[in-house]
Amino acid sequence: MPGVREGWSGAAGAGGTARMVFDVRRLAGPTTLLRPWRAADAPVLAGAWRDPAIRERLDVPEPADEAAAARWISQRELAWAEGRSVDLAVTDPPSGEVIGEVGLSRLDPVRRAALIGWWIAEGWRGRRRASEAVRLVLDWVLADGPLDAVMAEIDSENPASAAVARRAGMRRVDASRRAAHGPGDAPRLVFARTRISEGSG
Ligand SMILES: CC(C)(COP(=O)(O)OP(=O)(O)OC[C@H]1O[C@@H](n2cnc3c(N)ncnc32)[C@H](O)[C@@H]1OP(=O)(O)O)[C@@H](O)C(=O)NCCC(=O)NCCS
Repeated sequence: MPGVREGWSGAAGAGGTARMVFDVRRLAGPTTLLRPWRAADAPVLAGAWRDPAIRERLDVPEPADEAAAARWISQRELAWAEGRSVDLAVTDPPSGEVIGEVGLSRLDPVRRAALIGWWIAEGWRGRRRASEAVRLVLDWVLADGPLDAVMAEIDSENPASAAVARRAGMRRVDASRRAAHGPGDAPRLVFARTRISEGSG
């Protein structure tokens, strides 16, 4: 498969001063399987990028077409190797259908911290797939992986996503933070989960 290897491992870090080693082949939960993105996922990804609910909450490339999705997928392995992001497709076994994404960004090898973000495709929402997928990633990076803290910034007008964060063991750590997009944007709530806080429910 061109672009992204099925199982990858290596080091992520900035400036060469510290190294964070991520090694994952797949993350499996009761209903959901996470794996690296594949070139064949481009049509589904482009479809998600065109979903108004996802565009409202997340930055997506323009134009949000299949070529852009294929390009983005082909860059994931390098982005991970250079310590810029770790992006996993959320799939529905046994069909293998891609139903969402969980991604780590702003990987900071000094603080051993990162930001996490997610989306679930329209037809798959409301089945706790996001909660399961986010928890799988947090369990991985905070227990077996190299991170001590993972944060999420969630629009105050996105209660479903705040519920996902709580179900995945994250807690509010801050009253609010202005969105980086512009002064008129809704404040963002900040959630975090750390290695030592095994939050539940
Ligand atoms: C937010 C999103 C990921 C949720 O995906 P999902 O698979 O439906 O999430 P889950 O089923 O795991 O959990 C949704 C939770 O939100 C709750 N919820 C849904 N709508 C809600 C609302 N309007 N108010 C309060 N809670 C709400 C559900 O009850 C559920 O909580 P519960 O498990 O305690 O019952 C999905 O709607 C999405 O992709 N939205 C667009 C992109 C986005 O917002 N990404 C997050 C950016 S931070």
